[in-house]
Amino acid sequence: MCGIVGYIGARRAEDVLLDGLRRLEYRGYDSAGVATMQGEAIHVVKMPGKVVHLTEALARTPAPGSIGIAHTRWATHGEPNQTNAHPHLDCRGDLAIVHNGIIENYDRLKIGLIERGHAFRSETDTEVVAHLIEEYAMKLPFEEAFLAALRDVVGTFGIAVVSRREPRKLYAARRGSPLVVGIGQNGEYFLGSDPAALIAYTRDVVYLGDDEAVSLSDTGMETFSFDRTRITKTRESITWTIDEIERGRFPHFMLKEIHEQPAVIVNATRGRLDADAGLAKLGGLKDVEARLRGIERLSIVSCGTAYLAGMVGEYMLEEYAEIPTETELGSEFRYRKPILDPAVEAVIAVSQSGETADTIGAMREAKEKGVLALGIVNAVGSTIARDTDAGVYVHAGPEIAVASTKAFTGQMIVFSLLTMLLGRQRRMSQATGSRIAHELLALPAKVERILAQSDRIKALAKKYIHAQSMLILGRKYNAPVAYEGALKIKELAYIHAEGYAAGELKHGPIALLEPSFPVLAIATQDSVYEKMKSNLEEAKARRAPLIVLTNEGNEELVRIADDLIYVPRTIEMLSPILNVIPLQLFAYHLAVARGLDPDKPRNLAKSVTVE
Ligand code: F6R
Repeated sequence: MCGIVGYIGARRAEDVLLDGLRRLEYRGYDSAGVATMQGEAIHVVKMPGKVVHLTEALARTPAPGSIGIAHTRWATHGEPNQTNAHPHLDCRGDLAIVHNGIIENYDRLKIGLIERGHAFRSETDTEVVAHLIEEYAMKLPFEEAFLAALRDVVGTFGIAVVSRREPRKLYAARRGSPLVVGIGQNGEYFLGSDPAALIAYTRDVVYLGDDEAVSLSDTGMETFSFDRTRITKTRESITWTIDEIERGRFPHFMLKEIHEQPAVIVNATRGRLDADAGLAKLGGLKDVEARLRGIERLSIVSCGTAYLAGMVGEYMLEEYAEIPTETELGSEFRYRKPILDPAVEAVIAVSQSGETADTIGAMREAKEKGVLALGIVNAVGSTIARDTDAGVYVHAGPEIAVASTKAFTGQMIVFSLLTMLLGRQRRMSQATGSRIAHELLALPAKVERILAQSDRIKALAKKYIHAQSMLILGRKYNAPVAYEGALKIKELAYIHAEGYAAGELKHGPIALLEPSFPVLAIATQDSVYEKMKSNLEEAKARRAPLIVLTNEGNEELVRIADDLIYVPRTIEMLSPILNVIPLQLFAYHLAVARGLDPDKPRNLAKSVTVE
C-alpha cells in the first residue's frame, strides 16, 4: 500500500528518498513522487508508474536540497496518474504533503475550501489537507496550523509535510497509518511508513503512536499530541538486518521467503518449548496467564491468509485445548455487533503486518467491550502488537513479497504453541504436549525435504499453465490449506481457483468438473484420508485431471492420480504446515511460467491499511 519516506540531514535528500522508495516498492503502488527543499524553494517531481520512472524523471530534473519527503501511492481517490500522485501542494506552493490512509470527510472539507477560494489540482482526498493547513497557516504559526488541520480531519493518516515557512523542518503525524522515525548519525533523521525504508541508514527508531506528531529539524526531534502536549518516546532498536530485506541468490522475494520457512519454524519455536515436559512458554503472554486460565471462548480475527492461519488455529484449539473457538474476518466482526463476555472471552488478532485496518478495527471493537485482546503478529512494534493487551511475535522476519507465505507458516506454528499452552492449562496430558513439541521440532528438516522438490513442482506447474480454473480440495485441518492454495493461485497466477472443503464437492462444485478442469487434492494420511479417497473417485469419474498431495511412501493413489506430490508425515494437527508448502511453490512456479511477477501481483498491496 502507499509508502512514505522523509529525510533531513546533510546528505542529498533525493538519494535517500529514492533509496527508501525502492525499499518500499514491495508494498504495491501505482505512482511515486518526491518533494525536496533547497533554501525556500520546493522542488516536486512525480510520475505515474514505477520508482524507476521517477528516477529517470529526476535524472532529467533533479530535486536539490538536503530535506524532503517522498511517496509511493496506491490509488484510492482518483486515477493513478501524475496529477494525483503525491506530494500535493497548497494553492501557493508554500507546502508539500504526502499521505497514507483515507480522509473520510474530504468531500465536505473540499466543498468548504472551494467556497473559500482554494483551487484544487487533483482528485485526491490528500490535497484537502494541504489546503486546510494553508488556511490555518494564514493566521497561526506553521506547527499550530498543521495540528489544527489534523484535528479537523476524520479518517486515517500517516502524513509528512515540508513548508517554505519553516524550510529546515519536517513535520509528520499519524492516526491509524504507521510511521517510524529513524535517528541517524550527526543529527540526521529519517522517516518511513515502514522500517524497511530506513534500515540501511539506522537501527535506532521511534515508532509514532496514534494521534502523535513529530517535528524533525537540524537541532533535534520533538514529539507531541495534536493539542501540542509534549510526549516522551522511547527509542527502540530494529533487530533484523538489511540482508533480510534483500533478495540474495533468489530470483524473487517470494521464492526466498518460501525457502526461509525451515528457519522461520526454528525462530518461532526457539526458547518456547520444553519438549520433554510437553510445555510451551510464551513470554508475551506471561502477564495474562492467570486470566487465560478462565477463558471459555476464543474469537480469532484476521484477513486473507492470516484468516486462514486462524482457521487452522481454530481446529487446533478446539481439538487439543478444548476451547470453543470461532474464526472471523476482521471486516465482518467489527460491524456485526458481536456479543462478547469480557469475563470469559478473549480475541486473538492475527496479522503479518500488524497494520491491517480491518483487523485493527475488529481488535478495537473487542477491546472496547473489555475483552482480553491478544495478538499474533509478525511486524515488531506495529499497531496491533502495541495495542493488544498481550501477544506472541511470529519472528518470521520481514516479509517483502506481497503474497504471504512464511508469515502464514509462522502463524500456524504460534497457534500450535498457544494450543499447547492453553491445552496444558486445561486437560492436555504431558504425553500429548510432548508429542506435539517433538513433532514441531522435527518440522524444519521435513520442510527442507519438500523444498528440495521445487524443480518437480515447477515442471508440474508448466503442465497446468493453461488451466482456466482449478479446484483445490482438503478436509478438516487441510480445508483452510486448500483455501490458502487457491488464494495463492488466484493472486499470483491470475487463474481462477476455488478452495473447497472436500465434503462440499457433491453439494455443488462437482457440476464444474470435466477434462479441462484440474483438481488438486490434499490427501495426506490422517483421520479423514478415507473420506478424501472417495472425493478423489468422484472427481476421477468426471474425468477431471487429478493432482494429489499425499505422504511419502503412500503408493495406493498412483492408480487414480495424474500427478502426485509427496510430503513427509507428521501429526494431523501440524500437517497444514507441511502441506501448504507445495501449494506455495506450485502457485509461485505457475506465476513465473505465465510470465508474471510473483512479488508484485497486480492490484494488490502488501499491507492493507484502508478498509
Ligand atoms: C495473501 C495476503 C493477504 C494478507 C492479508 C492480511 O497472500 O498476503 O491476504 O494475508 O491482507 O494481512 P496481514 O497479515 O498483514 O494482516
